[in-house]
Amino acid sequence: MGGRIKVQGGRPLYGRAQVPPAKNSVLPLLAASVLCGSPAALLGPPRLSDVEDCLAILRAAGCQARWQGPNLLAGGPPSRCRLPQAQAGRMRASILFAAPVLARLGRVETWLPGGCRIGSRPVDWHLSALERMGARVCQVGQRLVLSAPSGLHGACLSLPGPSVGATETALLAGCAARGRTVVENAALEPEIFDLAQFLNRCGGCVEGAGTSRIVIEGGRRLHGTAYRPMPDRIFASTLACAVASARGRVTIAGCSPGLYAPVLDVLEQAGCWVLRGAGWASVGRAGPLRGVGLLETGVYPGLATDAAPLVAAALLSARGQTVLVDHVFEARFGCAGGFEAMGAAVSVRGRTLHIHEGRPLHGADVTAGDLRGGAALVVAALGARGSSRIAGREYIARGYGGLEEMLRSLGARIG
Ligand code: UD1
Repeated sequence: MGGRIKVQGGRPLYGRAQVPPAKNSVLPLLAASVLCGSPAALLGPPRLSDVEDCLAILRAAGCQARWQGPNLLAGGPPSRCRLPQAQAGRMRASILFAAPVLARLGRVETWLPGGCRIGSRPVDWHLSALERMGARVCQVGQRLVLSAPSGLHGACLSLPGPSVGATETALLAGCAARGRTVVENAALEPEIFDLAQFLNRCGGCVEGAGTSRIVIEGGRRLHGTAYRPMPDRIFASTLACAVASARGRVTIAGCSPGLYAPVLDVLEQAGCWVLRGAGWASVGRAGPLRGVGLLETGVYPGLATDAAPLVAAALLSARGQTVLVDHVFEARFGCAGGFEAMGAAVSVRGRTLHIHEGRPLHGADVTAGDLRGGAALVVAALGARGSSRIAGREYIARGYGGLEEMLRSLGARIG
């Protein structure tokens, strides 16, 4: 799965691209399937290494996990509480399996999750929510053992920050717990709403998802259902930024433009044109772009932290300055070294990436160090003159299924 992505830059992109279901929705849905008495069918999820890792975790727990054509059949009651270190240790979302396995078996043995190197990424809010619900947590080195011999009970949880993952853990635990759980300061991201909708279709009772206060009536018997996960708004953002970088005109279908409005707004401000329709957006760039000044990431509906390096990549050659501050993760801009190697005038200080002035980019050999940073290097390479080789393909494969094929179908030389 390792290797390099080769990009011959400077070719405009034209055509139509269909946005796949969201990785960040599929992973929590796979964790939720553990709560179901019968397997759930997820329709059309992307084939990604993070998805395959979740399937390995499900199998290790004794649940069903298999592809059926383009769909995934997953879940059913677990029979084993020990989750595999290889997969749990390398993926952030593995922590989402802790609550459902714990709730079903009274015990789970797992590992501190790995994931992209974009900051410290602790799981303390997940663990303290589970403790409030009756779990005992024991951590020795990387190993985590959680037990709740008499099951989980509902609780009033006030999250220290609106964490996406901790809100998902609270939803999963709340559905399996006895009584009512209230989650205050919940994350507002649409993937939370998607998880709640899935749980409700399975027979759960979750209200208020998409607001900062979620109420869950627990203890209902859940069953599998057929469900199409929401579209990947970061994939859509990646395509929009790719057009802004490479020039051309692309219709991005299957994803409501409202889901990634801040990205489209910034690209428009920089000089792209954007048409918005029901479930699609067309993005085009003909002339030069201009810098947009200060941009800050925030929780939904703000500019997504995952989109920040992609937007930066699109604006590297824009006239004037852009300053991007990521308030969510402290090391989001690890891709800046790669941008510099392509000729960009950038610097990073703490959480801030500064694009000092627009410079024409040239191809270079660069290395992806994380998922979105790697995709940002691809976006920059599409707009650079000459050829680039991006090592660390495995990072990009974690979150993008078929990105290279899709870009090729739009006219890019990439392989
Ligand atoms: C999810 C997404 C990721 C996205 C992020 C923010 C998935 C699989 N990943 O990650 O793509 O970048 O949301 O939109 O859905 N925090 C703590 N303690 C905790 C939990 C979080 O301090 O127990 C902090 C984090 O370090 C970070 C902030 O809270 O600074 C937000 O993180 P969180 O929303 O939890 O991100 P993830 O769920 O890991």
